[in-house]
Amino acid sequence: MEQYAIKGGNPLVGDVEIAGAKNAALPILAAATMTDETVYIENIPDVSDIKMILDTMRGIGVAVRHTERHRVMLNAGNINNLVVEDEAMKKIRGSYYLLGAFLGKYKHAEVVLPGGCDIGCRAIDQHLKGFRALGAEVYIEHGLVKARAERLQGSHIYMDKVSVGATINVMIAATLAEGTTIIENSAKEPHVVDVANFLNSCGANIKGAGTDVIRIKGVQKLHGTEYAIIPDQIEAGTFMFAAAVTKGDVTVKNVIPKHMESITAKLLEIGCEVEEADDCLRVVASKPPMRTQVKTLPYPGFPTDMQPLITVALALAKGTSIVTESIYENRFRYVDQLTRMGADIKVEGGDTAIIDGVGQYTGASISVPDLRAGAALVIAALSAEGFSTIENINYIERGYEDFHLKLRNLGAQIELVETEKDYQKFRLKTG
Ligand code: EPU
Repeated sequence: MEQYAIKGGNPLVGDVEIAGAKNAALPILAAATMTDETVYIENIPDVSDIKMILDTMRGIGVAVRHTERHRVMLNAGNINNLVVEDEAMKKIRGSYYLLGAFLGKYKHAEVVLPGGCDIGCRAIDQHLKGFRALGAEVYIEHGLVKARAERLQGSHIYMDKVSVGATINVMIAATLAEGTTIIENSAKEPHVVDVANFLNSCGANIKGAGTDVIRIKGVQKLHGTEYAIIPDQIEAGTFMFAAAVTKGDVTVKNVIPKHMESITAKLLEIGCEVEEADDCLRVVASKPPMRTQVKTLPYPGFPTDMQPLITVALALAKGTSIVTESIYENRFRYVDQLTRMGADIKVEGGDTAIIDGVGQYTGASISVPDLRAGAALVIAALSAEGFSTIENINYIERGYEDFHLKLRNLGAQIELVETEKDYQKFRLKTG
């Protein structure tokens, strides 16, 4: 099994190009099946979750061609199966967007219950409530979510919980419903706006995405388009925190600084300097992080996906910091791994981490429990004294393109190793 071998201690310095947003690309690819015309999508990240959904789409008759590494041509004019039950789709979260897309276009969809990282119970009741409000009959049978409608009728839907996935999924389906749909208490994340912009570029009529009320006037048909996905806010935030944790100087390029505001605010609070230009942000950390408190919230609050990253920074800060996770009930599973590197963190009530800063991590053998925690643990290891090995890196590859290569470009001593011999070679080389 491949692992990362890391020798910590180098501050990360330099520029890093940010890829397209995985969590925008997944729904946009699914939504692209709603037109029979050809769609070109640019800035698609080359990560394994995207490969999986593209393979599944090929398997049901969608023509998919990479015209470049980050540009995909899709044509869904010959879909031959509305039942998506392959194993790969059980593993990722974004598979549920095929439900909204097929229900909207074909008034029939059957998709395996979605998986994704094990960070909480991750209910889908708000998706199902939304589809039902549009007139679909929806039920779960043999592990599949099945949705069917004679016709979809626009409706007024109040989301009981702010959910990125449910907002996007219902918005996708409602695009081809009859009449107007209003989604209240909708999620405001940049990728919700990106999906709405994509659909509008295909002829949809969606207004208000990015606010908590979205209005969708159903249209009869969507057409082909060319569209570029927004930069990945979480990948950018990861490298910004990598600068903070390793006392480095990193410029993230190809970002939208407005999307990064809550992350920038926290970096300033813990003592980093952040410089902003049109499409890049530079983070300089010349001293150890300072203590603070943070609570994860829906956008524009501090993102839950960044929670492990800020915890890794605060565990090095002098004094006591508190991190509260308000989105998922099981997102501190990485804390025991961080403890192996010397962190002093107690998790209380499942949602609150009380962190006493330790000043320095020491290298250890670490196992990754989920995608974002995986990136955070790698960054902790890069700042640690001595060597670390990180296993289960397939989680990281789900959402970060060329992660170790980008880190290495910034001066990190990190290598993919497969055997004990490879690891010993790495130790000799970097020793
Ligand atoms: N929720 C419900 N009912 C629903 C839907 C959600 O109770 O029908 C709850 C969830 O259990 C959770 C909260 O609402 O407690 C928020 O869930 P949301 O639907 O917003 O999350 P998601 O769509 O399942 C996406 C990202 C996650 C990211 C969250 C929050 C994708 C594929 N995943 O998940 O990304 O953490 O939004 O921003 O877009 C990641 O990329 O590593 C990742 C986990």
